[in-house]
Amino acid sequence: MHTNTRYWTPADGDAGLNEAAAALAAGGVVAFPTETVYGLGADARSDAAAERIFAAKGRPSDNPLIVHLADAADVEALAAEVSPLERTLMAAFWPGPLTLVLPVRQDAVAARVTAGLDTVAVRVPAHETARRLIAAAGCPVAAPSANRSGRPSPTLASHVRDDLDGRIDGVLDGGPTGVGVESTVVRVLGGDVHILRPGGVTAEQLRAAAGEAARVVVAGAEAAAGDGDAAGAADSPGAASAIDAAGADAAAVGAPGAPRSPGVKYAHYAPQGVMAIASGAPEAVRAAVQAAVDDARRRGEPAGVLCCDEHAGFYSADAVIALGPRAAPAAAAQALYAALRECDARGLRFIAAEAFPEEGIGAALMNRMRKAAGGRTLPV
Ligand code: TXA
Ligand code: MG
Repeated sequence: MHTNTRYWTPADGDAGLNEAAAALAAGGVVAFPTETVYGLGADARSDAAAERIFAAKGRPSDNPLIVHLADAADVEALAAEVSPLERTLMAAFWPGPLTLVLPVRQDAVAARVTAGLDTVAVRVPAHETARRLIAAAGCPVAAPSANRSGRPSPTLASHVRDDLDGRIDGVLDGGPTGVGVESTVVRVLGGDVHILRPGGVTAEQLRAAAGEAARVVVAGAEAAAGDGDAAGAADSPGAASAIDAAGADAAAVGAPGAPRSPGVKYAHYAPQGVMAIASGAPEAVRAAVQAAVDDARRRGEPAGVLCCDEHAGFYSADAVIALGPRAAPAAAAQALYAALRECDARGLRFIAAEAFPEEGIGAALMNRMRKAAGGRTLPV
């Protein structure tokens, strides 16, 4: 497969955006910025266009895509029905990083997009460029994260180029994304809001918006989360065991009848090096991280650290990557995926990471860090 990939920068202005929209309308695949991560878009009504997303990413075909809309009112054309609680969530969080899984209206979306399920995942991105692009394309836009399967989601247009140059029709560069981790995926069932994947909208925010009558169910979110992107089962024994671990988790925590995201059975991105997380009191964490790095270096492995800004000066390692202030998980969420790409670029064989507090978006941050670490922890 080789396609001549076009790059539009903000300097190309409306002309660039309109060319990108025309490529989408013609059945092409184009990467674009959202407030979470870059998405790889295609006309959600077209099986052929959606197929090109799966081919470019190397994504397993039974994992459905999120459909992006320019306007919340457009949901009526895609969903067979929308409950009052779902409308409340849309009003509270759209445009924004919340994805709702809704019963799909017959023939509104290509079967390739829903992976043949009777539901469709929908969101309205809070990114001006994204919404203008979708509106100009004149179609609902199916878009997973614009990375090769098995790589971290892209938070810069250069990440998309590194992964997909020559495999897609174009990249609309809108600068760095804001949130840095993907949207929160929820399904409303029986009056409860089930979090299938933690993300940019926090459980606390959902609770506040849903009100007293509704429960927000986070249990099992860990296992059910599933990034869309699998490291293929056949890739390595490591990938296979990560899949087993995820499956076991799901079985252990999933309540009977609880909704699942198809992503559950796939391993998430893991860096090329072995990653492990230390959590606990800051001083003990620092000692544990440095000890693990020293061990790795004695084994001859290039070793790095992912840590809070406050601790960056403390460590001696082959790479020390500060993610942000300890009390600001939003900054760390924004920085995480680029940091994981840097670990691979620097050839690290071992990565010791400090845990961040799990409040607010810290829950999504730690969900992605634990997945990258394959659940490995350091003794503290
Ligand atoms: O922030 C985001 O959500 C980004 C940007 C580009 O919008 N997109 C994204 O897409 O993360 P992706 O494909 O990497 O992740 C989609 C997740 C997967 O876990 C998938 O299994 C789940 O949503 N999903 C999609 N359709 C679903 C459905 N009908 N039922 C349950 N889960 C669904
Ligand atoms: Mg993804």
